[in-house]
Amino acid sequence: MIILETRNLKYTYPDETVACKDLNIEIKKGKKVAFVGQNGSGKSTLFLLMNGTLKPDEGEVHFHGIPFKYDSKSLREIRKSIGIVFQNSDDQIFAPTVYQDIAFGPANLGYSKERVDFCVKHSLEQVGLSHLQDKPPHHLSGGQKKRVALAGIMAMEPEIIILDEPLSNLDPIGADEIMDLLNEFNQFGTTIIISTHDVDLAYRWSDYVYIMSNSKLIGQGTPTEVFKEQELLKKAGLRQPTTLEIYYEIERRGLAYGKNSPKTVPELVNTFKSLDLMWVDVPPKVKEGDSLNLGVMYGDYATHSPYEAINAKVLHIHLDGRAIVELKRKGIKAGGVLLYDTNNYSLKEIRQILKEGEMVFVGAMGKKNKILAEKNGIHLDVTSGVIDKSILMALCGKRCLILAAGGMVDHALRRIREYVEKSGIELTMGIVNRKESCKWLEEADDGPEILEL
Ligand SMILES: Nc1ncnc2c1ncn2[C@@H]1O[C@H](COP(=O)(O)OP(=O)(O)O)[C@@H](O)[C@H]1O
Ligand SMILES: [Mg+2]
Repeated sequence: MIILETRNLKYTYPDETVACKDLNIEIKKGKKVAFVGQNGSGKSTLFLLMNGTLKPDEGEVHFHGIPFKYDSKSLREIRKSIGIVFQNSDDQIFAPTVYQDIAFGPANLGYSKERVDFCVKHSLEQVGLSHLQDKPPHHLSGGQKKRVALAGIMAMEPEIIILDEPLSNLDPIGADEIMDLLNEFNQFGTTIIISTHDVDLAYRWSDYVYIMSNSKLIGQGTPTEVFKEQELLKKAGLRQPTTLEIYYEIERRGLAYGKNSPKTVPELVNTFKSLDLMWVDVPPKVKEGDSLNLGVMYGDYATHSPYEAINAKVLHIHLDGRAIVELKRKGIKAGGVLLYDTNNYSLKEIRQILKEGEMVFVGAMGKKNKILAEKNGIHLDVTSGVIDKSILMALCGKRCLILAAGGMVDHALRRIREYVEKSGIELTMGIVNRKESCKWLEEADDGPEILEL
C-alpha cells in the first residue's frame, strides 16, 4: 500500500535555485527507504516538501492518496503523521529540559496532561534516556541529542518518520544505536525514510533506494538492483558499497559462489568458495584413494569456522611423497544465537542461562539493554553490530546470547533466519523467554528447566 506519494514535484528557492524537479516518488507503508545523493542533490528540500514544511511550486504530495492542503489545521495533521528529524539536532531541540522538549509535540496536539506524560515517558524509555529527563538538552552529546529529537517525534506516534542524514556527526556506536532504534520502530510498522550519502548504510539497511543527483531522481530500486549499476553510481557521484566491491573482486577471480549480492560481513564470508584441493606430506603406507583424517585445520582451510575437523581423500601421490588430497568437510558444527527478550526479564534467569547454557559470547541491542547489563555486572562482548558479530561467532561454533527488547528481538531473529536460509548453514536460534522453539534448552535433558522460571 502506498502511504506517501509525490507527483511531478518542483521547488524553487527565492534566489531561483531549483532544488527539486520532476520528482515522482511512491513510498510503501512499513518500508525502510533511503534517498542517496551527494550534497546539494536536493534531499533536504525534498524532505521538507514531504512533510509540508515547504510548499511545491508545481506538483502535489499525497498522503494515503489525499493531496496535502497547506492551511494550518491540515499541516498540523500532516506533521503529526509524518515526523521529521532534522540533520542538525540543535535546529530541533529548544526546551529547557529533555522532558519538556519531548512533551512539546504531544502537548501541541492537544493531548491531555496524562496522555502527554505517558507518551513522553514511553518515548524516553524507548530511546534509553529516562535518566536524563531533567537535563538541559544542550548539555547532551550529539548521539543523545539525536535520540531526544527522535523521541520528540516518536511521542506523537507518527506513521512515517523522515530523518535527514540521521548519522552525520555521530560516532560509530551512536550511529549504531540510532539505526537499532529505527529498525525497532520499523518492526512495529512505522515507515522510515532517511537521506544519506553513506552508500554502505543505504545498501545494507534499506528496502528501497532512490538515487538523487542535481535536484532530480536518476535511479531507484531495491538496494541490490541500484548498487549494481556502476554507471548510475558514477553519474550520482557515489561509490559502490564496500561489501559489494569486495564481492565483485572475488567473483572476478573465480573465487565466489553463484550470483550473490552479500550485504553483511557474514554473507560476504559465505560467498567464498572453499579450497577443495591441497598438497600434503603423506606417510609411505598411504595409497591413492585412501581417506585421511587431517585433524583440525585452521585459517584458509576451515571455511565455516576458525577450527574445523577435516577429512581428505588422496587423489594423487607425487614421486617425492607429497600428495594432492581433496578436502571433505562434513557435519559442519556451527553454534547458535539465543535471544532474550528483556521486556520481560528476570536477572536470575539471565544469569542462569549464561551459566547453564554455556554462553561464551554476549551482546546487547539498544541503550536500555546495555544499561541493564552494565548495572547488573553482565559482561558484554559486543554492543554494536551485534547481530552480525553473533552470527560470525556462531559460525565458529560458539553459543551467543543477545539481550534485546520487543521488536528488536523479532528483527534480530528475522536477520539470523535470513542468513540461515541464504547460506544453508544451520545455526541454532531461538527466543529463550518466549514460548517459541529453543532447541538447545529443550534438548538439554539433564539441564535445568530454564524455560519454566
Ligand atoms: N535556503 C536555500 N536557499 C537557496 N538555495 C538553497 C537553500 N537550501 C538549499 N538550497 C540549494 O538547493 C539545492 C538542494 O539542496 P539540499 O536540498 O540542501 O540538498 P541535499 O540535502 O541533498 O544536500 C542545492 O543547490 C542548494 O544549494
Ligand atoms: Mg541535506
